[in-house]
Amino acid sequence: MGKAKQLSVSAIKNGTVIDHIPANNLFTVINILGLEHIENQITFGTNLESKKYGKKAIIKVSDIYFTEEEINKIALVAPAARLNIIRNYEVVEKHELTIPGEIEGIVRCFNPTCITNHEIIKTRFSIISKKPLRLKCYYCEKITDEEHLTII
Ligand code: CTP
Ligand code: ZN
Repeated sequence: MGKAKQLSVSAIKNGTVIDHIPANNLFTVINILGLEHIENQITFGTNLESKKYGKKAIIKVSDIYFTEEEINKIALVAPAARLNIIRNYEVVEKHELTIPGEIEGIVRCFNPTCITNHEIIKTRFSIISKKPLRLKCYYCEKITDEEHLTII
């Protein structure tokens, strides 16, 4: 066997590769992006070796180009992730993720008495700090911080 670099998950011709996802957040990312509802070819791998991040996961979606807004939603759970746009087998764009100014859904409000924890209402937060992460609830105005962050 030679020492040629091998891809653990096959290359794609056109589409989006989301790389450097922390391995334990792969399924959260799949949920946030709603990948279970699309019919395009999707391949993913998890618990792959990464020099920088220990174990990483990767998702490859053929023929879909997400908007930055869609992708930025995953910044909360996978801040180190990279978005790679593939056209004709070449990486033509590479983006880092940025945490958006407002978050809808995804995160639970830390306040047990918040209406979003008692009725079927989508949570909504404004980001008051990115590092450390501090989210202010639109409904009860309480702060959910990084330590108490729960993904819905
Ligand atoms: N990739 C792919 N299909 C292609 C080209 C690239 O699935 N036709 C994947 C690669 O496997 C890699 C990602 O897209 O996971 C980014 O490719 P590239 O920039 O070539 O890899 P690296 O230099 O390793 O990227 P990084 O520095 O972000 O780790
Ligand atoms: Zn609240």
